[in-house]
Amino acid sequence: MVPPVTVEELRQTFLRFFEAQGHRRIPSSSLIPYGDPTLLFTTAGMVQFKPYFMGLEDAPAPRLTSIQKCFRTTDVEEVGDESHLTFFEMLGNFSIGDYFKEDAIGWAWLFMTDELDIPVERLWATVYTDDNEAFELWRRLGVPAERILRYSAEQGNYWYSGEVGPCGPCSELHYDFGETPGCAECEGESCHPDVGCGRFLEVWNLVFMTYSQDENGEKLPLPTQNIDTGAGLERIAAVLQGVRTVYETDELRGVLAEAETITDRIYDPDGDPGVLAAQRRRLGS
Ligand code: SER
Repeated sequence: MVPPVTVEELRQTFLRFFEAQGHRRIPSSSLIPYGDPTLLFTTAGMVQFKPYFMGLEDAPAPRLTSIQKCFRTTDVEEVGDESHLTFFEMLGNFSIGDYFKEDAIGWAWLFMTDELDIPVERLWATVYTDDNEAFELWRRLGVPAERILRYSAEQGNYWYSGEVGPCGPCSELHYDFGETPGCAECEGESCHPDVGCGRFLEVWNLVFMTYSQDENGEKLPLPTQNIDTGAGLERIAAVLQGVRTVYETDELRGVLAEAETITDRIYDPDGDPGVLAAQRRRLGS
């Protein structure tokens, strides 16, 4: 089997993989959430499924998969680094009271390592501080203990759909590009995904959606235990295409090329952004 390379191949491979595991394919919903006063924009694949998680409506099937168009105002300040976009697409698989941690973790691993053929030694996992079950599940798949990190809510391993609504502890997968110049600050062994040295890219978040937070900040159990996963389409495409930034994937490279033409500047993530394309041409670079 040839792993997908282009963004479109990746979309289709993801949906087919989860359909084969019994998921129903659901189209992306609008960027403006329907009937949800808690959110201005659709920020994740789970947004259109919130009434199912909360037990307010019956889901069309207990296992769902989608590719959701997302917009995150909270990412605006980070746009321009290697991995943040305002508009992006989220690959997701969801369980509404059906499977839980074991299958969610097992399928994420199978998809990354088998379907996409990403080398296992490039993948690191994180689990919520006290989530020994998720830790053991990654271990059983062969992830070495030193590549499974326990992160707190402050480090991003507790996911909230908004100030009120479904939430739960989560477990992430990170891709390791290998040491970068930024690692000089990491002092060797303390280098890990949360340091932000540019060595790691978060590619998938698996949320064990078990609570709903109310207006007072109180967490009440949801009627069922659910799964909400979100993988970054553009980020995984960057990994598959061997580029360091989401802007260099086949989908966005054309937009960059147009921006280069309009601004007469060459995009170079490592270079001086002020160097005019005309100057570079004169310099022969
Ligand atoms: N809702 C989670 C997130 O956005 C997983 O899909 O990260």
